[in-house]
Amino acid sequence: MTYFAGKVAFVTGAASGIGLSIATALAQAGAKVMLCDIEKDALDKALGTLKATNADVDGVIADVSLKDEIQAAADATVERFGMVNILVNNAGVGGGGGYSEWTDASWDWTIGVNLMSVIWGVEIFGPLIEAAIQAGDDGGHIVNTASMAGLVSGGSPSYNVTKFGVVSLSEGLRAPMGERGIGVSVLCPGFVKTRIIESARNLQPRHGSKLEEVSPDSEAGRFAMLAMASVPNGISPDYVAELTLEGIEGDWPYILTDNTFEPAVDARFQAIKESFDRIRDRS
Ligand SMILES: NC(=O)c1ccc[n+]([C@@H]2O[C@H](COP(=O)([O-])OP(=O)(O)OC[C@H]3O[C@@H](n4cnc5c(N)ncnc54)[C@H](O)[C@@H]3O)[C@@H](O)[C@H]2O)c1
Repeated sequence: MTYFAGKVAFVTGAASGIGLSIATALAQAGAKVMLCDIEKDALDKALGTLKATNADVDGVIADVSLKDEIQAAADATVERFGMVNILVNNAGVGGGGGYSEWTDASWDWTIGVNLMSVIWGVEIFGPLIEAAIQAGDDGGHIVNTASMAGLVSGGSPSYNVTKFGVVSLSEGLRAPMGERGIGVSVLCPGFVKTRIIESARNLQPRHGSKLEEVSPDSEAGRFAMLAMASVPNGISPDYVAELTLEGIEGDWPYILTDNTFEPAVDARFQAIKESFDRIRDRS
């Protein structure tokens, strides 16, 4: 009997990449899983594959940048499985251009999908997880997918801002949710082999018909080129999922996947430390 057996999990961005791997790993560990995504064909395909293994899964279409659609997905989950114990706020998109390139539409899209969805997910699913605990469940968990881009800047500003937001939200929620028996982990992967580079496939008309041009000479453009070269050779989403399940069970505050960006994180902390040292004993 695993920790996950019989628990109900809700996973966003579950039709592809990291979300699909996490949903699959949870189902294989005995959880009942509601897969949520905006892409119907990919979701149907994922559900077909999982159901063929006798996994207890179902799916719901939602654009997580719309609060009403997250609420409807939560209602559908409770109707289907009766309760929720684990929330994985994972859906995300690659973000827009840098300074002198970005548009209001691409900021709105990135903030909506990457950050507001996480805030609303916690707001809507938190009370459901609490209710399950009050009804006798031994504890719940929330995983929010950020990125190494939530710990170091230098790529797409809108992507960085939303991912720093997800890290901050997750860190701040650990104490108040912990008091309620709910663990909170923030997943910060490095480059993972998924379809993140093709995020614009899910751009909705209200956010424009296409993303702004990003110059290869800008910082955002250079990072986009690096990501384009690195994501196809990135680590396996199945390995990320394995670590995520270990992180849920062990209530890890940060679920990190590899050491590629460790020097950049060290450099950021060092710059902050040097800034404290610069003004020490001045007043
Ligand atoms: N792949 C990487 O290198 C990497 C690194 C760090 C963090 N991440 C993060 O991992 C998460 C998953 O991305 P991935 O790499 O698996 O990419 P992916 O494109 O393979 O999967 C993202 C999923 O989110 C769904 N999605 C997009 N917009 C949505 C919306 N508005 N509503 C609902 N679902 C929506 C997509 O349909 C897709 O199924 C994202 O939050 C991403 O920022 C990815």
